[in-house]
Amino acid sequence: MTTPASRPAQGQIVQTVALTKRFGSFAAVDGLDLTVAPGRITGFLGPNGAGKTTTLRMILGLVAPTSGSATIGGRRYADLPHPAQTVGAALEATNFHPGRSGRDHLRVLAAASQVPTSRVDEMLDLVGIPAAARKRAGQYSMGMRQRLGLAAALLGNPSVLILDEPSNGLDPEGIRWLRELLRYLASQGMTILVSSHLLAEVDQMVDDVAIIANGRLVTSGPIDTLRGVRSSRVRTSDPTRLAETLRANGITVEPGDDGTLTAQTDDLVRVGDLALAAGLPIHELSVHRAALEDLYFSLTSTPESADRNRVTANPKEARRARTRAR
Ligand SMILES: Nc1ncnc2c1ncn2[C@@H]1O[C@H](COP(=O)(O)OP(=O)(O)O)[C@@H](O)[C@H]1O
Ligand SMILES: [Mg+2]
Repeated sequence: MTTPASRPAQGQIVQTVALTKRFGSFAAVDGLDLTVAPGRITGFLGPNGAGKTTTLRMILGLVAPTSGSATIGGRRYADLPHPAQTVGAALEATNFHPGRSGRDHLRVLAAASQVPTSRVDEMLDLVGIPAAARKRAGQYSMGMRQRLGLAAALLGNPSVLILDEPSNGLDPEGIRWLRELLRYLASQGMTILVSSHLLAEVDQMVDDVAIIANGRLVTSGPIDTLRGVRSSRVRTSDPTRLAETLRANGITVEPGDDGTLTAQTDDLVRVGDLALAAGLPIHELSVHRAALEDLYFSLTSTPESADRNRVTANPKEARRARTRAR
């Protein structure tokens, strides 16, 4: 693989503190605390309309927060001495002039951010469109536009890379290619933040995840930790009493709506023995390993988070939809 950097990128922390953006009375982003670590790939996940793009735009100084802060290496974007060399970004629906070639686009950008022109061809090689780069951008497929956007983001050899829905329009082969490229860049110390509304497209790509719904952080952490939530499902004749017994023994228990209990342990022997000691019959006992998909679905499937983009496209309709959602 072509080396994109003559010097290894120095990772910097991206952080938001109580970051909030309101459009009128509507909170698109609501008190968001996010920390994105260098040398890792962080997936920023949430359904359409959750507030991902708005958050990324605030980090990049394109939208002013209503309150709270967003910093890169401790500085607001506007205060960065060398923004193009610090952070590269490809936002959703980046529009390239249709009549200009991909290569010309990058040359203009390179000139504007004092990057040597030689880097343009290096980046086109890196993202795999050296030949296509001579064609007009108007003829590009979605996947090629994504690659061109990525080349543009990497031009300044930044230490932070922010990609908004980069897997949109990429075929499985393209997604694998992106994953390998990002993995390589992270190994060089780059801080990488990648948004997606599709967990499946990034779950093999990211180290950490931050999930948002309705503008708020729902959960965050290393993806392996979130994936590894193991619990057991128990059915007995007296769930209330079994729950008391398990809790008395330090096991967290949640009642299910079908009369079962979910115990936060995968130690079935212990659950069975405690039930026996309490004189309760076991009718069912099994380990349930929550797939991250289930978790993502349950975290994001509230009625009002279904698709806030659609909901707020038209203010009148938005008000009606929000009333309906109550
Ligand atoms: N300029 C704007 N004016 C009004 N509402 C907006 C504006 N930008 C975004 N929104 C709304 O804020 C919410 C979050 O949007 P966005 O950040 O694009 O979500 P995501 O990227 O997660 O799909 C959506 O409901 C969207 O309609
Ligand atoms: Mg978006």
